[in-house]
Amino acid sequence: MDKVKLLFVCLGNICRSPSAEAVMKAVVEKQGKADRFFIDSAGTEAYHAGEPADRRMQRHAVNRGFTLTSISRKVQPIVDFATFDYIIAMDDQNIRDLRRMAPNEDLARKLSLMTDYCQVHTETSVPDPYYGGAAGFELVLDILEDACEGLLKHIEANGRG
Ligand code: 4NP
Repeated sequence: MDKVKLLFVCLGNICRSPSAEAVMKAVVEKQGKADRFFIDSAGTEAYHAGEPADRRMQRHAVNRGFTLTSISRKVQPIVDFATFDYIIAMDDQNIRDLRRMAPNEDLARKLSLMTDYCQVHTETSVPDPYYGGAAGFELVLDILEDACEGLLKHIEANGRG
């Protein structure tokens, strides 16, 4: 069976989406399903292209056992919309930008919001932690841990993964 391909997207690809990538990799690993998934992340902007994840985000993630390994890159609309099954945005601005980048309406159906998959948290976006303090980074991880568990259940319920 083809791998399920997941792309997590935020603005800079140095805080939220690299964390989503690492948390989701840990979730599928824990379930013994790592080989059934291809998981990546990207940003709607190239501000930090080529850079590793934000050091603050890395520190908070490592404290929960998640190592952030990805290097920031910008979304490549033609390739990414063709390649990935799910393109998952962190907030409303990200999904608006991605809708504009989508090559056509059919491919735009691959878009969803990370918080759509939350089972416990009631937030409707993963708030940008970049200009805030420690609590913002912790909230990102709280939401992502909840949403990634829910995302795997959603994929399994759809007969994949
Ligand atoms: P991210 O956070 O979108 O979660 O990676 C941000 C990273 C960088 C900037 C904004 C948000 N920035 O303005 O450089």
